[in-house]
Amino acid sequence: MNDGAPPDLQTLGITKRFGPLTALKDVNFRLRSCRFHALLGENGAGKSTLVKCIMGYYHPDEGTISLDQQQVTIRSPRDAQAFGIGMVYQQFTLIPNMTVLENLVISKAKLTPIINWQKEEHQLTQFMEKMPFKVPLTARVGSLAAGEKQKVEILKQLALQNRILILDEPTSVLTPQEADEMLGHLRAMTLGRQLSVLIITHKLREVAAFADDVTVLRKGRFVGSGKVSELKITQMAEMMVGSEVTAKPKQRNERLSKVPKLVLQNIRVKNDIGVEVVRGVHLTIHEGEIVGVAGVSGNGQHELVEVLAGQRQATAGTIHVHDQPYQPTREKIMRHKIFCLPEEPLQNTCVGRMTVAENLAFRNFDVEPHAVGGWLMSRPALCRSARGLIERYNIKPPYPEIPIQSLSGGNVQRAVLARELSADVEILIIANPCFGLDFLAMEEIRLQIVAARNRGTAVLLVSEDLDEILELSDRTVVMFNGRLVYETASPGADLAVIGRHMTGHAT
Ligand SMILES: Nc1ncnc2c1ncn2[C@@H]1O[C@H](COP(=O)(O)OP(=O)(O)OP(=O)(O)O)[C@@H](O)[C@H]1O
Ligand SMILES: [Mg+2]
Repeated sequence: MNDGAPPDLQTLGITKRFGPLTALKDVNFRLRSCRFHALLGENGAGKSTLVKCIMGYYHPDEGTISLDQQQVTIRSPRDAQAFGIGMVYQQFTLIPNMTVLENLVISKAKLTPIINWQKEEHQLTQFMEKMPFKVPLTARVGSLAAGEKQKVEILKQLALQNRILILDEPTSVLTPQEADEMLGHLRAMTLGRQLSVLIITHKLREVAAFADDVTVLRKGRFVGSGKVSELKITQMAEMMVGSEVTAKPKQRNERLSKVPKLVLQNIRVKNDIGVEVVRGVHLTIHEGEIVGVAGVSGNGQHELVEVLAGQRQATAGTIHVHDQPYQPTREKIMRHKIFCLPEEPLQNTCVGRMTVAENLAFRNFDVEPHAVGGWLMSRPALCRSARGLIERYNIKPPYPEIPIQSLSGGNVQRAVLARELSADVEILIIANPCFGLDFLAMEEIRLQIVAARNRGTAVLLVSEDLDEILELSDRTVVMFNGRLVYETASPGADLAVIGRHMTGHAT
């Protein structure tokens, strides 16, 4: 190995099949020592599969992996760890009820039967002092914001002394500021020759700002790689999707209706540990209107959405739908045609082991034509409807009968959106709909949301992506510290003013 710097990592001719599907075909890839390397590709291109092969999660059918030109065998993530390779996953893996310290200690691969907490705490405090970013060791992980949790995930890998860090869409749960901060720290560590970074992302802006090199996969194949400094963003985009880049303009109907569809009055909500995080929200959304809720994550948006989706109870306030008092129960949600797209759809609204067709039918499995005689599910009917949605929403691979958890992250998202947008929708509640989507998928989804609005749907769009809010919504409200503190028409809105309200710095 060279001067203590992380080893060069190379894959040669990696092929990985899942039954009839070839997820990776003959992929060559090289992460040079101390570089910041971005891995790009559309949803389903094979990015997660490639890094899972490197981590020993999946075993490639063909091909080899080498470190500093020495072929190595990585059978499990534990082997990868022994070679100094660590990964931060698309979902958090921390235990929410434990402190940061406890999480860091239990993640150590070689646990002694008796943990000397004092010693561990001492060592980790020293370790933390050397880190460019800090998280209080005594904080309970469940009480941390997404950005902080992500930092703990990274610290965990660094505390395990990993020198090659792989991150699968780490910034999709972060605000742009949090993401820039984290990527900046990682970049500094690569420049300090402490670390090599391989990052999967859909955000080309981040790639341009932080990465040294890129590699692009398309449909499981290597299509190219190069230095970021020598490539334009449009070239990277073209490599990702071939020449099919066509963003359709979103047609917006003139809004005429002033009919209120969803009215929230003085909504108050407590979080899991009993702290009031929604502190008196008043909001009216009209027919054919998209209201965007902007805000830094952790200001109560999440809990507000949970209340509307019937997943959490408000402690005070009233909700009216079409002038009628509304309690979010499955029956009422169905009757009022309220649809909800929460964050992390695979965990929150899917049953991973059930098939794509079954998951697509969750909303209407108990009504005709899917049910015969009130209860018996008709499999051919389920598959027929599923095929229609799979085609319309371009879900890949296009098989209704496979478990939904075998789809790539972005394709699960499309499937849930297909389900929720497919029917006649009166009110649509959406949180960060485009997390983890590649830009073509993102365009498709945004088109669908505007189309629903044009049909008269009232849309509540909670998003941490301000550009998305301003592009899609008619009106923007800012949520800060549990309250809606600012409201403006979205066309022509002043970004700086919104930003100041988001951070509580408005005068
Ligand atoms: N465990 C599995 N079983 C069956 N098929 C799988 C499995 N894991 C992945 N696949 C398939 O392999 C292909 C590549 O998936 P992968 O998750 O690597 O895509 P990705 O590039 O990470 O996409 P995304 O941007 O949506 O996360 C997809 O077609 C996916 O459905
Ligand atoms: Mg993925």
